[in-house]
Amino acid sequence: MTEQHSEVLVRASILHFLRDPGTDASPSAWEYFEDGALYIVDGCVRACGPWQAICATYPHVAQHTACHVDYSGKLLIPGFVDCHVHYPQTAVMGAYGKQLLDWLTHYTFPAEAAFADPATAHASAEHFIQRLLAHGTTTASVYATVHAHSVDAFFEAASHYDLRMLCGKIMMDRHCPENLRDTAESSERDSAALIERWHNKGRLRYSITPRFAPTSTEAQLDAAARLYTSHPDVHLQSHLSENHGEIQWVRELFPNCAHYTDVYRHHGLLGPRAIYGHGIHLSDAELDMLAAHGSAIAFCPTSNRFLGSGHFDASKTLAAGVKVGLATDVGGGTSLSMLRTMNAAYEVSMTTATPLNPWRLWYLASLGGAAALGLDQFIGNFEAGHEADFTVLDFEATPDLAWRIHHCKTLEERLFALMTLGDERCVVATHALGKATTRLK
Ligand code: GUN
Ligand code: ZN
Repeated sequence: MTEQHSEVLVRASILHFLRDPGTDASPSAWEYFEDGALYIVDGCVRACGPWQAICATYPHVAQHTACHVDYSGKLLIPGFVDCHVHYPQTAVMGAYGKQLLDWLTHYTFPAEAAFADPATAHASAEHFIQRLLAHGTTTASVYATVHAHSVDAFFEAASHYDLRMLCGKIMMDRHCPENLRDTAESSERDSAALIERWHNKGRLRYSITPRFAPTSTEAQLDAAARLYTSHPDVHLQSHLSENHGEIQWVRELFPNCAHYTDVYRHHGLLGPRAIYGHGIHLSDAELDMLAAHGSAIAFCPTSNRFLGSGHFDASKTLAAGVKVGLATDVGGGTSLSMLRTMNAAYEVSMTTATPLNPWRLWYLASLGGAAALGLDQFIGNFEAGHEADFTVLDFEATPDLAWRIHHCKTLEERLFALMTLGDERCVVATHALGKATTRLK
């Protein structure tokens, strides 16, 4: 460390993306440095490149070995971005036997009702943040519960590690248990107060969170839109077109709208920094509407398989001009691991006309997710000036993976094996703003 600056020089095999590699896996979309260096000043990337070249350009840091961190032989990537996850639902992850609407009633709502107790919220938030970091995830778009204090608990836990996180209080004023119900007025007031308290506090940002169209009255959707338009850089998250029963219900509740996406358009809830979970059963007209408004879809493959919701077509959605990020959707999803999520995304894509290639999957888990959340000016790759959030992965974390890696001939094969056979056991360390939050091995 020098007097004025905190400097870190990290050595590892480094992979990051400059843009979407597309369906043809265009190599100009990524940079890979087998013996790489990431030079970080005051928590932000100053330079990223081959070790020898960075050392030659910055000899004072090269000589100052006290600021070196050596992960040679390991893979260093931008911290994973989880575009849609419910922190109060970790307690019902993997609950047996229901599709979406029954699953909400039997498991999700009771779990969320327990958050009326602030102590439950605080303990769960701390647990969740620690588990995210253990899985290599440094940014997530997080649903709290209807209780305002559940957002306070989450942001307090995230701020201990200075993480870039999005979170919002669920707005839900109908078709849910009494003890989880707010009103259009109270949800607008509470959300506005939370925005005041947390939005842009350090790296934290607020996401307005109407749960989904069936659990909000039209008055509440209008309230959400007022919050969205009156705070220019605030985010928005909700659910869209996940399950056939849900879609039919929306049709009945909003007979004057052309389709599910049109409900959100009609109420002013489409636009930049708005991301919708699932989007499995969208028509071409709905995809065009999302693209025209610059809204994104969070692809939640483990959840979609687990709840029997259907197979999202990521390639088709991207081709329509809609941004897509990857997401765990815990507790519908079955793991916080973005590696497992990438594997599930690949398997789901194999049922579609255009399966995802390995490069695009690694892109979606990092820069693609950051772009889908409207955060790519801060995170997602190692361009100079970006915040230095990164994850270090071990290609040989398990005997099966190590054996497979030993037989791989190319980087593409190794990356693919890492995401198909890997999980949180591969995470060696997770750094936020250059600092280690965990060094697990
Ligand atoms: N739709 C509305 N709420 C939820 C939720 O909590 N999880 C999932 N997967 N879908 C939803
Ligand atoms: Zn969800």
